[in-house]
Amino acid sequence: MSIRDLDDLLAEGVSGRRVLVRADLNVPLDKQTGDITDDGRIRAVLPTLSALVQAGAKVVVCSHLGRPKGAPDPQFSLRPVAGRLGELLGAPVHFAEDTVGDSARSTVAELADGQVALLENLRFNKGETSKDDAERGAFADQLAGLGDAYVDDAFGAVHRKHASVHDVPARLPHVAGRLVLREVEVLSKLTGEPERPYVVVLGGSKVSDKLAVIEALLPTVDRLLIGGGMCFTFLKAQGHEVGTSLLEEEMVETCGNLLERAPGKIMLPVDVVAADAFAPDAAHDTVPADGIPSHRLGLDIGPETVAGFAAVLSQAKTIFWNGPMGVFEMAAFANGTRGVAEAITKADAFSVVGGGDSAAAVRALGLDESSFGHISTGGGASLEYLEGKTLPGIAALEN
Ligand code: 3PG
Ligand code: MG
Repeated sequence: MSIRDLDDLLAEGVSGRRVLVRADLNVPLDKQTGDITDDGRIRAVLPTLSALVQAGAKVVVCSHLGRPKGAPDPQFSLRPVAGRLGELLGAPVHFAEDTVGDSARSTVAELADGQVALLENLRFNKGETSKDDAERGAFADQLAGLGDAYVDDAFGAVHRKHASVHDVPARLPHVAGRLVLREVEVLSKLTGEPERPYVVVLGGSKVSDKLAVIEALLPTVDRLLIGGGMCFTFLKAQGHEVGTSLLEEEMVETCGNLLERAPGKIMLPVDVVAADAFAPDAAHDTVPADGIPSHRLGLDIGPETVAGFAAVLSQAKTIFWNGPMGVFEMAAFANGTRGVAEAITKADAFSVVGGGDSAAAVRALGLDESSFGHISTGGGASLEYLEGKTLPGIAALEN
């Protein structure tokens, strides 16, 4: 595998050249105010952008935000991101009102050496996510026309076969940015020979989203700790009633099979925080995992579970964590996620946090980011990497 990286491009010289950087600036926004609630993904791409600025490139940044349906939609505009990016870079970022239209072309044409432009949301164009190769290719042609070289630093999107990720690199000299390189370096330690015990903690709402990674990890991990909304389908598979908790009925049998296949490897909650409603002020109690009242729903793992998980984590040498243990956005249901996160930071282990939500949880709970080995900017991307899948964005850089 040979991937050229940013240093190779810088060595060629980029002064005065237009360098198109695919970033993942898909940051969470406050539903009411539209403010950026976590700028981790913007900060993560700064090393690449700063290096290009310093080398005198004309830096053209592109990204998606949210999932607009192939047409402009103001709630998904990248304009606020341009503002924040400018603050972090310490220099204004020119914003193009469209992605590949008149505004984009003139904004790029007016860039001086060492200046940065951000194009409007890639997904305002149907070609970006199209399944049709020709439609994607036509959009990739337009996008590639805005650069002389291409840098992929959008680790969070490398698992998408999208024009900006998969098709543009076929049209321009291409390299991996600093973030993509670091992410791949770290994750390859987990797929290689991780130091043992290797413990994986999985949370989040749906088993169906995590099934492939569970299948892939089960033979290689020493323990798999499961919390979050997805634990209730497993509890149901163990024969427990789960009240009105999140449940994927059609996955119960699959979960049962997984439990049978690796006896003792999968660890489930022994207690949960069960509430009357999905609300921050809902009445709630800690109950045994096999005693969830029929009218209540589990919104967090309980303290006994946290203690059990923490005991396993304290012995681990390698840890991967993806997905919150409960509804951490509501204070009453944040203790599970906080407890597990703290246990990970205390362990004498190489720890990797994967996923936008878990990374945001780390920051929202005020935990020290530097006490984790690595916080990945990719959710789906890091999971698919661990599954051993070919990632279209990485494969495109190898060619
Ligand atoms: C993410 O947030 O997972 C990445 O930015 C990719 O976004 P997507 O899941 O909408 O493709
Ligand atoms: Mg996603």
